[in-house]
Amino acid sequence: MEKAYVYWFFGLSGSGKSTLADALALRLKSLGEQVLRLDGDQMRAGINKDLGFSSQDRLENVRRAAEIAKLSLEQGISVVASFISPEDIHRRKVKEVLGAKVHLIFVDASIETCKLRDVKGLYQQQAQGNISSFTGVSAPFEKPMDASLRISTEESSVEACIDQIMKQWKEQNA
Ligand code: ADX
Repeated sequence: MEKAYVYWFFGLSGSGKSTLADALALRLKSLGEQVLRLDGDQMRAGINKDLGFSSQDRLENVRRAAEIAKLSLEQGISVVASFISPEDIHRRKVKEVLGAKVHLIFVDASIETCKLRDVKGLYQQQAQGNISSFTGVSAPFEKPMDASLRISTEESSVEACIDQIMKQWKEQNA
């Protein structure tokens, strides 16, 4: 239970949050930890179907996810979450719900890189006028002052990023 933590990845669409979160979940499981994976697309496909992409709806999106993470922690199960969480108020809400049990990890990649990657084709969709309030283009992404850790997916491989995360909280995992 004391060892259960929430690893909350946030950053632009295409920054690499889901990739890193999947890899971290695998790593923690290989160390014998139980892990719950929460993702923005997954939450929005079901439990948060009623929410859109206004700042207010995003706040409710991350609040519900954080509350689920809290329930998981109470069962001794760690959580690896990936949500854009674009504004300070969104990250503050996550901290308000989870307190010292959450590690906020900023997944940093420039908007140019994310546009080039365009894994889901959403930047192209946005450019064609099919998506409104798209984070980093027509909706804000506030560079964080409040992350526990910044990871650049432009500079390091996935494995190197995971090593960096594990090292950062080594004592906790000892
Ligand atoms: S958050 O801002 O509320 O934290 P969340 O991580 O749940 O966002 O969802 C982001 C995902 O929704 C993106 O990865 C993308 O697949 C999809 N999406 C659809 N419309 C938008 C939009 N306008 N802005 C950002 N993401 C969008």
